[in-house]
Amino acid sequence: MRHFDIQKPDLDLTRQMFNELEKDLRSDKIDLGIGIYRDENGEAPVFKAVKKAEELLFKNEISKSYKSPSGNKEYCENILDLVLGKKNINDRNNKIGSIQIPGAGSGLRIAGELIKNKIKNKTISVPNPTWGQQTFMFQKAGLNILKHSYYDAKNNFLDFENMLKDLNHLKSGDAVLLHGCCHNPTGSDLNLEQWSLVANLCKKNGLLPFIDLVYQGLGNGINEDVLGIQKLVSIVPEVILTVSSSKTFGVYRDRCGLFSVITDADRVTSQSLETMLSEIARELYFHPPDHAAAIINILLNSETLKDEWLFELSNMQKRIVSLRQKIGKSFQEKQQSDFFSFLKNQKGMFSLLPISSEGIIELRKNGGIYLMPDGRINIASVRESQIDYITSKICSLKEFQIRKL
Ligand SMILES: Cc1ncc(COP(=O)(O)O)c(C=O)c1O
Repeated sequence: MRHFDIQKPDLDLTRQMFNELEKDLRSDKIDLGIGIYRDENGEAPVFKAVKKAEELLFKNEISKSYKSPSGNKEYCENILDLVLGKKNINDRNNKIGSIQIPGAGSGLRIAGELIKNKIKNKTISVPNPTWGQQTFMFQKAGLNILKHSYYDAKNNFLDFENMLKDLNHLKSGDAVLLHGCCHNPTGSDLNLEQWSLVANLCKKNGLLPFIDLVYQGLGNGINEDVLGIQKLVSIVPEVILTVSSSKTFGVYRDRCGLFSVITDADRVTSQSLETMLSEIARELYFHPPDHAAAIINILLNSETLKDEWLFELSNMQKRIVSLRQKIGKSFQEKQQSDFFSFLKNQKGMFSLLPISSEGIIELRKNGGIYLMPDGRINIASVRESQIDYITSKICSLKEFQIRKL
């Protein structure tokens, strides 16, 4: 008998796509699938400010002993400050409990455990569509998953009216997943008024918002991108929040993020919330890595490095906005219509292109262009010199030729 005599696994469509991409030997193949920020040279470089902070850490680090399952406290304070701002934190009066985690990916699973163990309904409603890994993590944690309307993928707009209707049908005690900004995969975000309407509905109907924030600074700006979250936190009594530092500080593989629970429950203190969360961390992975958290503290505690980091982040945001305009314009010229103009107004790295599965495979085979199987495109991995080629190939698909007639 062999314990590991397992069959070759069935790969899902995303893994099939990445497998094909790896095996594709064409030197000019274009990867628009993977969710990392790339510069004009196609590189995913380390932020200069992060490298400088890392050098300081390297010089001054005196121990690599364990911290604790709740990770780096100072990092939690620094990131909460960036996301919620001092006023929101003070208004919550010692009722925010936080731990540092190995990235928001882990935050999804922690949220799953928390909702399963503490929330009666064990149910979360996710936007349709949403990033597949979120649903995967909630499923693995054993949650019931519902979907609420979010985006009209045929007509390329945020379907807020149906979103509100669907949220209104949820039961008191259900959780609701909200993307903090730069929705993955659609790039369509709620405006401030819509955040406010969702927050008031959650408050009235006893829904628990869970916010997943990964792209702060890459949508409209470092402060602008969190105004919706701040609005929600000022209205709703209880919120779960996870924040990723992968993209905002470019520390993807070093694994670093924040997980917080905010409440106004009578008996609760930050300490009791933190203990509750660190018990979950202990069960799932024991301790988070400290390296990126320590770097981020050095960076944010130095005015010079913080300014340098903000400048680099703002340049990335500007590049994404400019690529969106240029890609939108190129489509307009090729297609002689405004069909793709939604790309210009959406936010952050991702948009969903309304291309059929056959079209996506055709682009892969004959154009060497790799999109995600759902049509998600990573705008931040497009090089300006490739725009014309990409839009031509897409517009020459049969489905867009027919559209033109
Ligand atoms: C919406 C969303 N949540 C979570 C994550 C995971 O982030 P991290 O690298 O911090 O685990 C991502 C990464 O792409 C994401 O897009």
